[in-house]
Amino acid sequence: MPAVSVEGVKKSFGSTQALAGVDLEVARGEIVGLLGPNGAGKTTLVRVLATLLPPDGGRAEVLGLDVVRQAAQVRQRIGLTGQQAAVDEILTGRENLRLFGELFHLSVADARRRADELLERFDLVEAADRTARTYSGGMRRRLDLASSLLVRPELLFLDEPTTGLDPRSRNSIWEVTRELVDEGTTLLLTTQYLEEADQLADRIVVIDHGRIIAEGTGDDLKEQVGGQVVEVLLANPDERRTALAALGDHAHPVGEVRVHVGIDGEHALQRVAQVAAALDEAGLTVRDLGLRRPTLDDVFLQLTGNPPSDAEVAGNGHAHSGDRPADVHVGDGPAGDGAAPAVDPTAAAGDPTAAADDPTAAASGDTAAAGDRRAHINARGEDHS
Ligand SMILES: Nc1ncnc2c1ncn2[C@@H]1O[C@H](COP(=O)(O)OP(=O)(O)OP(=O)(O)O)[C@@H](O)[C@H]1O
Ligand SMILES: [Mg+2]
Repeated sequence: MPAVSVEGVKKSFGSTQALAGVDLEVARGEIVGLLGPNGAGKTTLVRVLATLLPPDGGRAEVLGLDVVRQAAQVRQRIGLTGQQAAVDEILTGRENLRLFGELFHLSVADARRRADELLERFDLVEAADRTARTYSGGMRRRLDLASSLLVRPELLFLDEPTTGLDPRSRNSIWEVTRELVDEGTTLLLTTQYLEEADQLADRIVVIDHGRIIAEGTGDDLKEQVGGQVVEVLLANPDERRTALAALGDHAHPVGEVRVHVGIDGEHALQRVAQVAAALDEAGLTVRDLGLRRPTLDDVFLQLTGNPPSDAEVAGNGHAHSGDRPADVHVGDGPAGDGAAPAVDPTAAAGDPTAAADDPTAAASGDTAAAGDRRAHINARGEDHS
C-alpha cells in the first residue's frame, strides 16, 4: 500500500482553481519533492493530504486511509510542518517542545528528554531558554520542525522547510530530514528550489497552476535543462536578438535583457569564457554575467516555454525581481556562516519567484498555519483519549 495515493483531486477557492485534478502516488519510505512556483498549489495539496482542507473532487488516501472519511486516523499517523512557523511566542523553545510533547501524549519525562534531544539536534541549545518571540526566522523554523518530530510520524509533510533560511540552518534541516528517512519516515516536501528537491528527494514532481506537469529524478529534470546555466544580463534590450544569435542553440531569453545559456556541468569555466568571448565578438555590452545551477525558472522554461507564473509574480508587485542582476557568480560563494543574515544561495540564485511571497497566501497563511497546528494537536489529543 502506497504512503500517498491521490487521484483527480480538485480544489477551488472562489474562482481560483488551486488544484485542477492532481494524480500522485508516493511509496512508503520514499522522499518526494513537490516543486512549483508561488501559487502553484503546493500548500493546498499538502493541506488536503493532512486533512486540513476537504477536496472538492477526486480521491486522496494517506497510509491507506481516506483523508475525508478517516481524517482522525490519518492525523494520528502523520506530521506536518506548515509553511508559516507555528510556535508559541510567549514560551521558550524548550517549553514549546515540552508542551507539544505532552500534547502528543508523551510522559512528562519523555517529553523533557525528547525536547532536549531535539534542541541539540536543531542547534537551539543556547537559545532554548529564551522566549520564541526573540528567535530569528530560521530559529523559529527549526523549532517548528522540531515540534513536528516529537513523536516519529510515519509520514511527514514539510511545506517549504527551508525558505528564508541561511545555508547553515538549511543544511541542518536537510541533515535531519535525511536521518528521518533513514529511520523509515516517508517524506513529502514542497519547495521552490530545484536544488533542494534534487538534494533531498528520490523523485521530483513539478506542479504549476494546480496540475502536475512533469516528474522524474533530479537528473531527469536537469537533463532537460542542462547541468548549469550561464546567465547574461544585457545592457540594452535591443541587443537581445543579436546575443541569442551569437550564443547559439542553448541560449534562450528570460525577460527583456536576460539570456540563459544551458551548459553541461563539465568545463563550466571554459564555457563561461566562451560565452563572454562570443558576446564580446558580437560587440555587445553586458551588465552582468554569472554561472549558476539551473533553477525552477529554467525547468519551467523547458517544460512550458514560459517563466513560472508570470502573472502571479507580476500581480504581487515582484515583476521587478525578474530584472535583478544575478548575484551568484561561479558557485555558491561563501556558505556555512551561521552568523550571517539569511543568505540562501538557492534563494539568491536568480529565481525571481524565490523572494516573491504571495501576500494573500501569507496573510491568510498566518492564522491558517496556527490553526493547522492546533487542529493537528487537537486531533491527536482527541484520538488518543
Ligand atoms: N484559503 C484560500 N483562499 C483563497 N485562495 C487561496 C487560499 N489558499 C490558496 N489560495 C489560492 O490557491 C492558489 C494555490 O495556492 P497555494 O498556497 O496552494 O500555492 P503554493 O504552491 O503553496 O504557493 P507558495 O509557493 O506561494 O506557498 C493560489 O492562487 C492561492 O492564492
Ligand atoms: Mg505554499
